[in-house]
Amino acid sequence: MEKLYGKKINTAVFISGRGSNLKSLIKYNRKKNSPILIKLVISNNADAKGLTIANKSKIIKYIINLNNKNFEKKLLKKLFYHKINLICLAGFMKILSKNFIKKFNKPILNIHPSLLPKYKGLNTHNRVIKNKEKYSGATVHFVSSKLDSGKIILQKKIKVSKYENKKTLQKKILKIEHKLYPKAIKKILINL
Ligand code: GRF
Repeated sequence: MEKLYGKKINTAVFISGRGSNLKSLIKYNRKKNSPILIKLVISNNADAKGLTIANKSKIIKYIINLNNKNFEKKLLKKLFYHKINLICLAGFMKILSKNFIKKFNKPILNIHPSLLPKYKGLNTHNRVIKNKEKYSGATVHFVSSKLDSGKIILQKKIKVSKYENKKTLQKKILKIEHKLYPKAIKKILINL
């Protein structure tokens, strides 16, 4: 790890909305000992709240139009231009193609608000509550072309109380997400 600290990994964070994980990753990237340097924030949504966070931190933003059938090609160009070596998906609502993953050819990570492989996809917290699960949590995993299915890097489990609703569970899990993502990044970068 020592060696990597001197040489930060150029990172792009992909978002679609609120950007609370982006915020926590920016905070992490500012730490002296952080192995990452966030160079780009990519959003498919021009109104994403997360973009204001990128603005404040003076990070280059790039809005992509998913309706453009060449969007992945354009995006790859941008990522190569900025010498990006790590992608962190943080609430990015689009599945990247097998071709994109292959061509990028460097680690792509995602954070998901459940104990994968359980509860892949959307509406996680509602389904967890409906099924009266005793535990839920968050998972950071490598991205593959199958939704929420790549190799798991780290997971954190929490108890779901009897009185939990979607809002309280989401709040609880987001809080642990913000700690888990930096931890997972640190874990994989040790092995690069
Ligand atoms: C998080 O719950 C994350 O696990 C999921 O999307 C949500 C994004 O939230 N993939 P935010 O935009 O980082 O606040």
